[in-house]
Amino acid sequence: MSDFTSGFWSPYVAGLTIVGILGCLLLLWVTSRKKVPASADNTTGHVWDEDLTEMNNPLPLWWVWMFIFTVVFSLLYLVAFPGLGSYEGKLNWSTRAEYEQEMATAKKELEPLYSQFTAKKVEELSGDLTAMAIGERLFMNNCAQCHGSDARGGKGFPNLTDGDWLHGGSPEKIAESITKGRKGNMPPMGAAVGGADDVKNVANYVLSLSNAPHDSVRAQLGKSKFTACAACHGADGKGNTMMGAPNLTDDTWLHGYGEQAIIAMINNGKVNEMPAQEGKLTAAQIHVLAAYVWGLSHKGPAAKP
Ligand code: HEC
Ligand code: HEC
Repeated sequence: MSDFTSGFWSPYVAGLTIVGILGCLLLLWVTSRKKVPASADNTTGHVWDEDLTEMNNPLPLWWVWMFIFTVVFSLLYLVAFPGLGSYEGKLNWSTRAEYEQEMATAKKELEPLYSQFTAKKVEELSGDLTAMAIGERLFMNNCAQCHGSDARGGKGFPNLTDGDWLHGGSPEKIAESITKGRKGNMPPMGAAVGGADDVKNVANYVLSLSNAPHDSVRAQLGKSKFTACAACHGADGKGNTMMGAPNLTDDTWLHGYGEQAIIAMINNGKVNEMPAQEGKLTAAQIHVLAAYVWGLSHKGPAAKP
């Protein structure tokens, strides 16, 4: 396996490597042939710092042999292992194969552990301390960057601990969210509602649903326009998990709270995506994660099997 983009680089790099190695031998040969004329006391005649002289001794034989040995070793190494351009080496060793083997071994070791977990239902598994310790680690590695290390989310990223669900909080729905990912899609609705004033009226009607501070005259005027929203958010504004449309009557706000945020939402809409995890995590890992996430909003006696 090589990452070279053209056929030129592999022989080029291999050639440089071999020239470098042969250069070492050449250096040894040249220096061993060149005799420095020594004076009677066997010094080269160079003097530093007034009285520091240089002896003219040959290289120690053990050193020369070690030098030759390293050259021979490097040549044998380059025959056996990848190192010369894209040549793969006689032993066919690669970091990729080694990694894959380690992963396969780890998977085999973990299989009995995970099969214990998959045998249990999510509700029961969420009370299993070993499984939940693994679930927490999986969450930290794969989910925390978006949902936060405490799973409380942030703007645009849902809180997974509050029992308030865009797509449903049953074990099956949570597993489905993780496996397939989710795409929340609210189209821009400004035109469907009417002019800027109508949008402001509907926004005030939405605020009135959760008893948030609002202009009650505007809310009254906006009420009839809410029919444009009812298809997804329900006639009562309590949302619809089939559409991933949030409940607008509670005080949980995914995209910000207040008249301005709601007006922006109506005018601009929103596409909000959770990436599918099925290619990244095994079905057993997703099962453990579903139990971990389910357990976050089902603390207490309910979590016990
Ligand atoms: C790249 C960011 C990102 C990552 C990584 C991510 N999520 Fe999400 N997740 C989101 C977003 C955004 C949503 C909301 C989608 C929407 O608006 O419909 C979401 C929604 C969800 C939901 C549905 C919530 C509901 O209210 O119905 C669950 C459950 C969930 N994620 C769990 C996880 C788990 C478990 C992981 C780790 C394996 C994970 N997510 C990783 C961004 C992410
Ligand atoms: C086609 C379905 C659809 C229609 C129609 C629709 N919405 Fe939405 N709305 C959604 C979805 C889905 C989301 C969640 C987006 C996400 O996943 O982040 C949402 C989110 C919102 C939010 C943000 C809630 C929060 O927690 O921050 C507000 C406010 C809102 N809608 C108001 C409205 C109003 C008012 C209308 C009518 C004018 C409307 N929506 C029409 C699907 C719809």
